[in-house]
Parts: sequence; structure tokens; C-alpha cells
Amino acid sequence: MTDTADRTNHLPLSRRQLLAGPLSRRQLLAGAGGAGLLAAVAPGVLRPPAASAAPAPAPGDGTPEQLHLTWGSDPATSVVVSWASPGRALAPRVLLDGPGGRRSVPARERSYTDGLNGETAWTYHAVLDGLSPDTSYRIAVTAGNDAAAAPLPGAVRTAPAGRAPFRFTSFGDLATPNTAWVLSYGQSRYAVAAVESFQPLFHLLNGDLCYANLNPAAQPAVWRDFGNNNQASAAFRPWMPCPGNHEIEFYNGPQGLTSYLTRYQLPDNGVPGFRGHWYSFRIGSAVFISLDADDVVYQDAAAFAGGPAPLVPGATGSPPVAPGTSFYVRGYSGGAQTRWLRRTLAQARADGSVDWIVVQMHQDAASSSATGNGSDLGIREEWLPLFDAYQVDLVLCGHDHDYERSFPVRGYDSMAGRDAVTGAPVQTRRPHPVTTTPAGRFDTSAGTVHLILGGGGTSAPLDEYGEDTADGLRQAKVFTKPNRPVPGAAPGTFTRAGADAVEDATWSAMRDPATGYGVAVFDLDPGEPGGETTITVRYFHAAGADPKNPNTGVAGAPTPDYTEFETFILSRPRAGGRHGRPHRAAVQTAG
Ligand SMILES: [Fe+2]
Repeated sequence: MTDTADRTNHLPLSRRQLLAGPLSRRQLLAGAGGAGLLAAVAPGVLRPPAASAAPAPAPGDGTPEQLHLTWGSDPATSVVVSWASPGRALAPRVLLDGPGGRRSVPARERSYTDGLNGETAWTYHAVLDGLSPDTSYRIAVTAGNDAAAAPLPGAVRTAPAGRAPFRFTSFGDLATPNTAWVLSYGQSRYAVAAVESFQPLFHLLNGDLCYANLNPAAQPAVWRDFGNNNQASAAFRPWMPCPGNHEIEFYNGPQGLTSYLTRYQLPDNGVPGFRGHWYSFRIGSAVFISLDADDVVYQDAAAFAGGPAPLVPGATGSPPVAPGTSFYVRGYSGGAQTRWLRRTLAQARADGSVDWIVVQMHQDAASSSATGNGSDLGIREEWLPLFDAYQVDLVLCGHDHDYERSFPVRGYDSMAGRDAVTGAPVQTRRPHPVTTTPAGRFDTSAGTVHLILGGGGTSAPLDEYGEDTADGLRQAKVFTKPNRPVPGAAPGTFTRAGADAVEDATWSAMRDPATGYGVAVFDLDPGEPGGETTITVRYFHAAGADPKNPNTGVAGAPTPDYTEFETFILSRPRAGGRHGRPHRAAVQTAG
């Protein structure tokens, strides 16, 4: 018996429990602390995850599942096909059917062993390149030990080359339909179906994919339910993810992202040590930039052992995670991500054939959810000045499980915040709206529009919004400092405080109190030379899906019905102008 196993005999959350499969929410909270397992790791306390087994184990069940697509290096010609199988696959491959006939493309294996329950996940990735732009292909994946009657089918349409209209969609915070898991809910199945119903070229999944880290005894099983749920759309069009705080898992890599990074093969950012953490890709006249905001936010919201019992890994030999331990990764790239972002933005805005710059990240610079996390000064300090300088048009986030739209913002209002407890002035660098006039059309060359699209499918909608009772204005909470764990009310427990500051949310243009669930649909029109280009944004919400609407108290249930909540148009002058010159970057540092 190992030392770890011996110790588990004396702990409330036993090794046997950890290996027995899903715990109920009640069991989990009782075993790991009432505050839940929500956030960060004290460096030095935790050991690295167990390495994948060597020598290689015998092949198991190679039946493909969890099929999902992502863009390759050039979305017009390259697509990555990824999947997993219950055991190790023999000769995993993609069968590709297109205008050039059929070919078989071998896949590369990537596996990892979960650092908490010791389960090994087997994933496979095949790069399809040399494809024709704007062309449909059929795919199917299989293996030598595929037990299914037929290969698992999918399809993809490559991106158009050059300026062309196209559609994309976005939400985050999806979870799974398996309600045995913490934060999972039936809406996540309808959310995937909603994406598919709009037939976008691709979907931006803006973080907090499945909340595996809230189910620490069964992380790979949660990922499996997630993968098999979103396969209903992700097998037919790329789903491009970014990491959220709930992709950060104890004992799974230096930033806890091993599961995420193993399951997705994402465009190369060229930054050693951080491949897949952040990336960009280009489609037509738009550059899309996907960031990992865990690197810059002050808030501590990733894996967390709340106590009073330690979190005890099963079968891995790793020591228990002590109560009060959180996996806090702020600053992990040492500035490498921000340097990459500056280079990428500068290159995009200097390119006369690029009109639009769209950013996705998980956490929020501009959210006024009352029950959610709110806004974070870390993003405002680190990245909003770059968004201003290079005229980022649109920022898509999740994290708060609701819908909110900002007015176009540029620069900031200095010292507009106050301490949430004392009322003393606080620097929140409040984003400055360039207009506060309700309108259906906004010029994003004058300011960046932020959208909160956190309404994928979790069981915890957060569509209750802040209000300053003193003046009736909208109010946002803002993290301006780390909320590291502090002792909780019960002996041996720990908790993390909410945001430390508040501000009047003068930048907030629209909020949806009807439901936390929805999907945004974006239609890009490249326009004509010398004219304007537009993105028409339609937000569809699933009214009635909240388990209990916080604003009305009405109990609801998952629903397949997504109806239009609002439509607005973003516009900007086409790059290149009449004389073929790119726009100059407008550097502003207001206030
Ligand atoms: Fe989140």
C-alpha cells in the first residue's frame, strides 16, 4: 500500500470514492469545502503530473468519439481533425473525401494521465492540408481497433480566400448535459444544437468548456461527456476554444492546462513553451485572436481546495492538495503573451487587406453581473491599451453566465471606482464609452465593443445585474487585486472573496435579464472598396431556460427554443482606403 493510499483511509474523501466515479454536488462540496473547488496552486506545494505510462500499454478500444475540428495554419486550406478513444488506438486515421477523391491521413497520438484520478486519456490529431478554399469535404475517422460498424462521420467547409462574407458564432461556459457533474445542465445540449442550426463557418468557444476542475475525482469523464456533446456540431465545423479558469486543473501541467492542450491542436503561436495557450488565425478580411486571460487577471478563480478535508488524488501517488490551496497562475507567461499580442495586433493593423480584429478571451474587462465575477483590472491594464492602439473591433468573453454589450469604448476614466467596503476611491481604469446613445449601429474604428457571451449551458446562469442604489445607475464589480484564499466561517475551510471594488458602469449598453443562456451570430459583409464593411450581430437567447430566473423568480427548464433578443451592426471603413494604404494605429490613453 502506498503512503498516499494509506493516508486516504483516514480522510473523508477516500481513494475509493475518488475512483468510484461521479460524486454528487453535495458529496463534492462536503468533501472539498463549501466554497467549491473554484480556483489556483501555490507553486512548490504541488508536484508535476504523472508522466504518461512507459513502456506503451497494449492497445485498447480504439473506437473514435469526441470528434472535433479546429482550423489549421490557414483556414482556407488547412483543418485539424481531433478525437479521442476509450483506449489506445491502432493506426488511427481520417478518411477524407473531396474534389480530389479519397485519401487516408494518419493521425498523431497525444495522451496524458490525469493527475488526480490517474486515468489516461487517448487523443488523436490529423492535419488535413492542401485543401481548396471555400470547399466542402466529407471526413470519417477510424482505427485498426475501431469496434463501431462504420467510421465516425463528420464534414467541413474550408474558409474562403480573400475578402468574402462569412458567418461565425460564439458562446462560452458550455458544460455538459450530464447533470451528475457540478455545473452541468441540459441546456448545453440545446446550445450545441443552436450553433448547428445557424450553420456558421466556425464557432468561438470562449472558455470554461466543461468545468472538469469542479469534478476533481472524474475530470477525464467530464471531458468525455463534453466532447461527445459538442461533437454534434464540432464534427461539422471548427470550434475554436480559449482556456478559462475552469480548464486549470491540479496536477495537470505547470498551468493546469494539460487536458485542454492535449485534446486540442490549435494554430501555432510560435512562442516556445506556450503553444496552444493563445493563437490567431485569419479568415478573409478578419483576424481572430484567442487569448488566455488567466495570465493577466487579478481574480483567483481556478482549481481550489476549500477544505476542511484535503483533496486526495487517487492512484497517482501525488500528495493531497491542502485545504486553502488555489491554482493561481497570474503572470505565468512572464509577459510573453502580451508581447505576442502586440506583435500580432501591429501586424494585422498594418495590413491593408485586414479590416476586422476580433478577440476572444474568457474573463471580462466589462461585465456588470451582480452574482457573477464582474470585471477585472488586470485585463484593463495589460490589454485594453493595446486594443485601443490597434483598434480592436470586438472582444468576446464569457465567465459571467449572461449577456451584456458595451458601448464602443476607448481609453479610460481615471479613479472612477471605489472600494466595495470602505467607499474610498479606487483606480479601476473604467473603460470610456465614446458614445452612450442607444443605437443600432456602431463604428468600431472609434471604439471597441465588448460582449459577454457566457450563456452556453451551465446550471448557474448569472443574469442578475448590478445597480448603484445611490444613483440608480448600472454598477459593475471590479477585481483590482488578487482575492487569494482566506479562512472561511467553518473550521478548517477556506474561501475567496468577491471583487474588491465597484464602479458605475457607464460603458454598459445592453443586458439581458430574461435568461443567462444564448448564442451570438455574426455575419461579416466585406463591403466594397472605398466603402464600409460591417458585421451584423444577432443575439439569440433561450428564454425560460434558467433553472430559476433571478429577476422574476420563475422556475424554468432547458429549452431548444432560441429567439432573437437584439440585433445591431458594427461598421468600419474598409482598410486600404481609396489609395491602398492601411489605417494608422490610433494610440490613445485617455484620463
Ligand atoms: Fe469562468
